[in-house]
Amino acid sequence: MKKTILALDVFDLKTAEKLVKDTAPYIDIFKVGPILFLRSGKEIISMIQNNGKEVFLDLKFHDIPATVKRSVESAKDLGVYSLTVHSIGGEEMLKEAAAVKGRPKIWAVTVLTSQVTTPEEVIRRAKLAKSCGVDGVIASPLEIELIKKECGKDFEVVTPGIRPAKTDDDQKRVATPEAAVKAGADFIVVGRPIIEAADPALAAKNIYEIINNM
Ligand code: C5P
Repeated sequence: MKKTILALDVFDLKTAEKLVKDTAPYIDIFKVGPILFLRSGKEIISMIQNNGKEVFLDLKFHDIPATVKRSVESAKDLGVYSLTVHSIGGEEMLKEAAAVKGRPKIWAVTVLTSQVTTPEEVIRRAKLAKSCGVDGVIASPLEIELIKKECGKDFEVVTPGIRPAKTDDDQKRVATPEAAVKAGADFIVVGRPIIEAADPALAAKNIYEIINNM
């Protein structure tokens, strides 16, 4: 089941590989961001794939349409499952990205959660992304229901800010895994609650069981 995405927010390949192997029974997709990608590049992608798992390449492309198109083609050649683009890149950029044949899934960032915004702006950008042929958006737990209502249930919502229990960190707009899934999230992205747990495999297993018993 591809519901939970583990954010591999670590600095080196060895630590990442241990996390992939330890949590493999409970996680199918691993998110690789710029920090790890800039350090380990293709090696990290191959490591995840060699362990029989999928890659979510979270590099948030935002550039001129031709460059984003070629970036999507390069990501396709790497065989990743999904990637991110910024909806703020605009209609032409989103369309060029979405038009790449045989491409990975594309999820658009509406508004970064670090920025102040309104639900109207999030919806405006989600609708733009949908109309351009993008598969879904990254959205906070609080926006899931509204996006599903406005963009339809088949437009995917990928949700970070997942906290199984009450925690005190920099994520302000959080939800439990069950609340996010109940609200309609197609995928949840979990980082620190698993990677910083004393036992990451157990933390991943707990989330897996919660979701599978719903
Ligand atoms: O550690 P935590 O569970 O907060 O990790 C969430 C992951 O999702 C991080 O990799 C973070 O960069 C990413 N993310 C996010 N909010 C967004 C987009 C991505 O927290 N809007």
